[in-house]
Amino acid sequence: MPQTQNFERFVVTTSHKPKKSQVEIAKKLSKELGVEYVPRRELSDLLKKGEIDFYYVVEHGGRLVIRWKGGEFFFHPATAKVRMRNLNSGGEDYLIKSLKLEGNEVVLDTTLGLGAEAILIAHFLPKGKVIGIEKSPHVCRIVKWGIENYTSKTKWINEALKRITVLNADFREYIKSLPENSVDIVYCDPMFENPVYESNSINPIRPFASYDTLNKEDLQEMIKVAKKRVVLKSHMKDTLFKRLGITNYIGSKNSGVIYATIEKG
Ligand SMILES: C[S@@+](CC[C@H](N)C(=O)[O-])C[C@H]1O[C@@H](n2cnc3c(N)ncnc32)[C@H](O)[C@@H]1O
Repeated sequence: MPQTQNFERFVVTTSHKPKKSQVEIAKKLSKELGVEYVPRRELSDLLKKGEIDFYYVVEHGGRLVIRWKGGEFFFHPATAKVRMRNLNSGGEDYLIKSLKLEGNEVVLDTTLGLGAEAILIAHFLPKGKVIGIEKSPHVCRIVKWGIENYTSKTKWINEALKRITVLNADFREYIKSLPENSVDIVYCDPMFENPVYESNSINPIRPFASYDTLNKEDLQEMIKVAKKRVVLKSHMKDTLFKRLGITNYIGSKNSGVIYATIEKG
């Protein structure tokens, strides 16, 4: 599984037989990203020569995908849907339980990733919103595009998407720029120290993700900007909660995924 190192050389292209509008979007994107725009027919040559690690594809309708040898990454709310189906059939969702939402809060999701949990959270905020922070410019680009443009056949997804704002930033710097008590809840889900690869929805973002972890100072900053609480996610095998002195958490023994709630005050 490729990680961020040696996964940096990329270009922008379109799908085969592109419309004029796709080429225009791709050229604009390449300028924004500071990389070359390559017509699709010339791409295979670059790949054969091993000159690029991955490439952005502007597909029909402007849909944005990143592809590389053996993988691809695009926005899809599938995981949010599965979790909602579980909730609707009487199952428990430990994230939603930990957040204790009333419906009008501002939730700062400091590690947006694929946006799956942000979508689920936003559904429970009919009068609130989610601010999603993502450090990786590539993860952010794809997920921001999806959150702003994706249309689902499922009504609750479309409504939830409208309540999410996406920002490309490092949560450490972003949180330091916020006044005390300026959001209601802060949520943080850093990449696991012990990755779970098997059928994991996170796999497509592994080459691009930031692997920052949290220390006690970060947690203090999060508590400072939250009016109500901070919720953290980890894996039972990881050291995160131990390092932060957290002993109270809920979660699933089967998956090993655990959530801790730190109440303000
Ligand atoms: C495990 S994923 C989060 C998954 C997310 N909860 C979801 O539902 O898809 C962690 C994400 O946090 C991002 N990340 C790591 N460190 C960060 C930082 N300092 N600031 C912002 N994002 C960060 C990673 O790039 C990755 O996309």
